[in-house]
Amino acid sequence: MTIETIAVMQDEVRALARERDAVILAHNYQVPEVQDIADYVGDSLGLSREAAATDASAIVFCGVHFMAETAKILSPDKTVLIPDLDAGCSLAASITADQLREWKAEHPGAVVVSYVNTTAEVKSESDYCCTSGNAKAVVDAIPEDQEILFLPDLYLGIWLEKVTGRKLNVWMGECHVHAGIRPADIERWQAEAPDAELLVHPECGCASQCMAFGNDNTHILGTESMIRFAKESPKQRFLIATETGILHRLRKDVPGKTFEAVSEDAICKYMKMITLEKLRDSLRDWKFEVTVEPEIAAKARLAIERMVAIG
Ligand code: 13P
Ligand code: SF4
Repeated sequence: MTIETIAVMQDEVRALARERDAVILAHNYQVPEVQDIADYVGDSLGLSREAAATDASAIVFCGVHFMAETAKILSPDKTVLIPDLDAGCSLAASITADQLREWKAEHPGAVVVSYVNTTAEVKSESDYCCTSGNAKAVVDAIPEDQEILFLPDLYLGIWLEKVTGRKLNVWMGECHVHAGIRPADIERWQAEAPDAELLVHPECGCASQCMAFGNDNTHILGTESMIRFAKESPKQRFLIATETGILHRLRKDVPGKTFEAVSEDAICKYMKMITLEKLRDSLRDWKFEVTVEPEIAAKARLAIERMVAIG
């Protein structure tokens, strides 16, 4: 699309959102033209908080399906739309509710902490949810002697064990995008740009090596913390190890500094299924509505509300 076509479509989206009393929420990994039209752009935690707090009568969620489901659970009386129902998540798909029930049966009495990248049904079997932005605070809030099952991300689990000093039972799931950012990518950059600040999402396949061999320039952070960190840092050059959509937000919110992707291949095809055109169609044709079975929603709400309240 040309700049002019994008601008025309963005005007159309704005007018439709006003007419329909809808708020547009977008994740940091969304394409630039969608981020630029959203009322709020943020990480999973910020988006959940916005979804819970909004006065609008509808939410159009530009992100992946579990995020829209979480918004629906937090705001059950509002209509929640997602512009493409196929926008899934490989990490959320790495554990089913049946698998979690089996795992719980093997560890009676254990507390279940689920990353927000899970289905509503998995959340309904969980005691706490967390995001990368508050996972440490959530684990810290659980009594020390309590056994914990952490799911579904292996790399986030290993990082959490390190920063909390706790032994966790960790599910062996992964996000194909973050797992694909390998230690070799980091080594290449460390040789090329040794003075740059390296910001690494804890879901990355290179996160463990960064923890073990990183220096003072290495920081393991969720997406929103990356933006805060870059704003507050006196440094100029940043290497970013996460999905590349965040670069648009960083460049926009932190002008005058340099941001480079550690891996240009770190692109989430699910996040990119949401286009400006589909967002327009979603508002115009009032589709696709995201629903969660009330019984599942009621059980999942407690774990999600704990997540929203902590950290
Ligand atoms: P954030 O919690 O940093 O928003 O990350 C969400 C996600 O899907 C990571 O891939
Ligand atoms: Fe899921 Fe990975 Fe995409 Fe995030 S980047 S939505 S964890 S598949």
